Amino acid sequence: MSEHEVPSLILAIETSCDETAVAVCSVDGEVVISKVASQIDIHAPHGGVVPELASRNHNNTLRPLIEQTLAEAGLVLEDFAAVAATSGPGLASSLLIGDTTAKAIALGLNKPFYSVNHIEGHLLSPFIGSPQVEGNISLVVSGGHTQIVQVKGVNDYRILGSTLDDAAGEAFDKVGKMLGLPYPGGPEIDRRAPFGNPKAFDFPRSMKNSGDFRFSFSGIKTSVFYCLEKLSDPPNEETINDICASFQAAVVEILTIKTVAAAKQTGENVVTVSGGVSCNRGLRASLERAANSESLNLVLAEPGFSTDNAAMIAYTAAMHARNDIPPSPLDQDIDPNLRLSEITSSLL
Ligand code: KG4
Ligand code: ZN
Repeated sequence: MSEHEVPSLILAIETSCDETAVAVCSVDGEVVISKVASQIDIHAPHGGVVPELASRNHNNTLRPLIEQTLAEAGLVLEDFAAVAATSGPGLASSLLIGDTTAKAIALGLNKPFYSVNHIEGHLLSPFIGSPQVEGNISLVVSGGHTQIVQVKGVNDYRILGSTLDDAAGEAFDKVGKMLGLPYPGGPEIDRRAPFGNPKAFDFPRSMKNSGDFRFSFSGIKTSVFYCLEKLSDPPNEETINDICASFQAAVVEILTIKTVAAAKQTGENVVTVSGGVSCNRGLRASLERAANSESLNLVLAEPGFSTDNAAMIAYTAAMHARNDIPPSPLDQDIDPNLRLSEITSSLL
């Protein structure tokens, strides 16, 4: 690959939580390769992510994963024009592994380093493959974040509303745990929901009529807890499926209503959805129905780029480079509590 003309390439690393991920993207937004080494099997017996296990595992996995990625793509480190890594939000000990490794590679190559915000990575992921980011209303729904953002362009974001308590994915995972389902609960609830009755239990649609774009999911979660307490026997498969269907219906309804309302209020015609929960089949179907009836253009992140991945980090760095946003100094720290930088919203 090195002897012939190649578009400038960016190598990106993502280790913010429990996925070790490496990807390569061209500066015009095409993903060349994206690899994810999941740690789910390591954390599943603990019912959630154990930070020390996550960072130690990133440390063992990252270097071989970079080597494997380069070998499969037929690339060598000298092919890269820049290196990027997630700098937050996430687990500090996990972030440090990817961030330090990417900085060391950038330093060795004497190439720019891009420090990327994980939420911005999700936010832009529906546009992966395109050299441009269109204005849109973006629903970011992951295990750590639930936000509706008006995207006016790269680095031009206005947060319309966020969750006041749990993220949507966190609520899925906690309800999954209460039901005794394998970790993470989200995909398992999604799998079971079509076999249950979504009207069997009337879980609250919290903040449905709040008139803003904020969310609250802890009430739904607590309601599932009390519903289980009230059952005389441990729930059988049928009841578990009914709870999955009813819980998912409540969460999907709220996410759909608020996202469509944000598009109408701002006049944006494009709606994007990203983050792990955007894989949810009930949510995708509900948003597709709503977008059709409201004549909105719905752009969903591809499932492979919805849960944590490094392609979205490489793509975000590429969009920064294209939009003349300067790279980051090598002494820039990680930030476990990093937020999306925004223009102050006048709507809240
Ligand atoms: O984006 P992500 O990989 O990590 C964070 O940045 O948090 O999202 C992980 C979250 C988990 O809570 C997981 O249960 C949820 O996404 N998730 C799903 C589905 N697939 C992943 N939730 C509902 N339905 C799914 N199909
Ligand atoms: Zn994520």
